[in-house]
Amino acid sequence: MTADSPDSDAAEGDAGSEGDAVRTDGGVDAEGADDTTLDPWGSATVSDYRKLFAEFGIEEFDEVLPEVPDPHYLMRRGVIFGHRDYRPVARAMREGEDFAALSGFMPTGDPHIGHKLVFDEIIWHQQQGGDAYGLIADLEAHSARGLTWSEIDTHARDYVLSLLALGFDPEEGELYRQSTNRDVQDMAFELGVEANFSELQAIYDFDGETDVSHMQSVVTQMADILYPQADEPRPTVIPVGPDQDPHMRLARDLAARMRYFRVTEAFAGFEVDDEGERALLGEVYESLTAGDGDAAGDDGDDTLRCEDAAEALRADREAYEAAGYGGATVERVLEKLENAGMEPIRRRTRFLGRNATDAAFDALVEAVDGEKRVYDEHVDAFELTREEAEDLAREVETDHGGYGFTAPSSIYHRFMTGLTGGKMSSSVPASHISLLDDPDEGYDKVKAATTGGRETAEKQRELGGEADECPVYELYAYLLAGDDDEFATEVYEECVGGERLCGGCKEQAAELMAEFLEDHQEKREEWADRLDDLDIDLDVAADRRG
Ligand code: TRP
Ligand code: SF4
Repeated sequence: MTADSPDSDAAEGDAGSEGDAVRTDGGVDAEGADDTTLDPWGSATVSDYRKLFAEFGIEEFDEVLPEVPDPHYLMRRGVIFGHRDYRPVARAMREGEDFAALSGFMPTGDPHIGHKLVFDEIIWHQQQGGDAYGLIADLEAHSARGLTWSEIDTHARDYVLSLLALGFDPEEGELYRQSTNRDVQDMAFELGVEANFSELQAIYDFDGETDVSHMQSVVTQMADILYPQADEPRPTVIPVGPDQDPHMRLARDLAARMRYFRVTEAFAGFEVDDEGERALLGEVYESLTAGDGDAAGDDGDDTLRCEDAAEALRADREAYEAAGYGGATVERVLEKLENAGMEPIRRRTRFLGRNATDAAFDALVEAVDGEKRVYDEHVDAFELTREEAEDLAREVETDHGGYGFTAPSSIYHRFMTGLTGGKMSSSVPASHISLLDDPDEGYDKVKAATTGGRETAEKQRELGGEADECPVYELYAYLLAGDDDEFATEVYEECVGGERLCGGCKEQAAELMAEFLEDHQEKREEWADRLDDLDIDLDVAADRRG
């Protein structure tokens, strides 16, 4: 990235391109950063977004994009680059079913154009028919960042005003702050029962010095994420930056741990918790039944027994090991099969009663259709598919006072590059544009921004600019071009084609930014007059000591 740009006039070329294949995602990676650790309270830079796919199991957003009806421009342009389990949300959107979207904001400073991405994502999901939630993470700001309650009140108000000004509908959606939402606190307490210190230590690097309130803010965030399912389970998307992924992983885990029943596949009375063991057992079983489910043991008896399976596995052991099953896995499966001996082996769907109350367990046993076998801690059903079993488990759970949570989904957006290069940081005013910046100030910041331009206008015409490395181009792609893909593509192609020079390009961007800020702030003013009517308390400092 060059420090400055040829300050000549833009080549206002009219070679506007229709090229819809061009990805206008300004994929700027902070140079020199080699940090792909995901730390919610650390510095939010990611040097290589692809690494997140491999290392943390985040999936590429492009793969679900075709399933999303009328996708948002941030999705189309690859700014939203990753997701966890977004398919159920996309399906609910397509089929007009119930779903929710929620995100939270730590009120530690002014809301800026980086936060606008998340505001827009919540609002878009609301417009697509979702139940939308915006929350102020005031407990987190106080415990993890040490802000005073009166600072928090000020910022909370600013976040709420910008969210409203950008189009959040408070009649349809819900705005709340963590500290005053009793239901969230209650849910946080219950979720805390399922999480222990060692786990938080492993996920967040907490240690003996970590204060207890900071830990409480973590379980509060878990409750935030699951709060849209407080009344009933439904697909929920949490739009966030990838730094929040550790929270998503924990929330998805806790959602599963809260479930009354766990549905798995089994073959006999014994437990097979390990995925590898279950897969091996499945293969051995398939080989014996060859799909007809009616194979006989070789002892003349036509019941297939665990000992028959043990024998078959022992005979083909080498082939199974060559196919990738570890020796230890084979050994454990053999042992289980041999211990079970004469017990018939048959594929079945198993309900493990993890957290079920006795009443819920009994009700489940009652509700299982067809042949079943009841054990102390589980029920086996012989005539239910996995899917039917999942539905039944959830139904019995919700009927008996459980949440029946669906694992929450998430989508991840790229971080915006700072206007001065490096990362966009709330604590470096020149690096970002605050949504509260005076339009003139916003204009000046854009004019002073680093670009992906060449040293001279001549070189720029010859080589083209580096739009992919340019924070100004990012402003167009992430914000200024709005929904207009053609415009975003035109800027991109004119830049890389050498027809667009940085001086004029920045002038255009600066004017658009000033217009945006002026309009945004007008809308904030309008909402400011109506804030009192809203169901969110923006003045808690007076009631707090801390
Ligand atoms: N931890 C988030 C942040 O630092 C804020 C937050 C709190 C949040 N609760 C949430 C984000 C729930 C998404 C969902 O910005
Ligand atoms: Fe210069 Fe604009 Fe290209 Fe950035 S996008 S390098 S500011 S011409």
